[in-house]
Amino acid sequence: MYNCGLLRFRKIGSVSNEQFGYLTPIEFGAEIPFDVKRLYYIYNVADDQIRGKHSHKKLHQVLICVHGSVDVNLKNYFGEETYTLDDPSVGLYVGPDNWREMSNFTDDAVLFVLASEKYDEDDYIRDYDSFINYSEKKYQLKKKTLKK
Ligand code: TYD
Repeated sequence: MYNCGLLRFRKIGSVSNEQFGYLTPIEFGAEIPFDVKRLYYIYNVADDQIRGKHSHKKLHQVLICVHGSVDVNLKNYFGEETYTLDDPSVGLYVGPDNWREMSNFTDDAVLFVLASEKYDEDDYIRDYDSFINYSEKKYQLKKKTLKK
């Protein structure tokens, strides 16, 4: 889908000893497609709560559920998709103009987020109708440019 997608990180383990566990390295500039300026994590979310409910105008993010499981629903001008994140070696890249809703957090879920910019409330669109209007204006304009 447009402007989002799964990233599969390395999972270093021991073939001879499964109990040894796994190590997932993430090098900024290599595995992450932007310069990371901020990280935060979301945890202790009850299973009836829906978080997110916003889009960003410029921010790029990678979401990694490092423990437990969470569903991330993304909607943008071109489509909609729900990703279940339940593997610490998988990240979900979410670019600008994606309306996101995170739900079905398991009790033990820890959602780790890498972000391309420092926190800026002005970059958020928190109203769904405004998100639709903003996206329609932006991408209809792009379509017109492409047709020339
Ligand atoms: P918000 O991004 O709305 O969280 P979610 O989409 O997961 O529900 O942020 C919740 C609150 O935390 C909001 O008051 C802004 C604040 N916040 C920061 O101060 N710094 C940050 O880096 C983030 C992500 C949020």
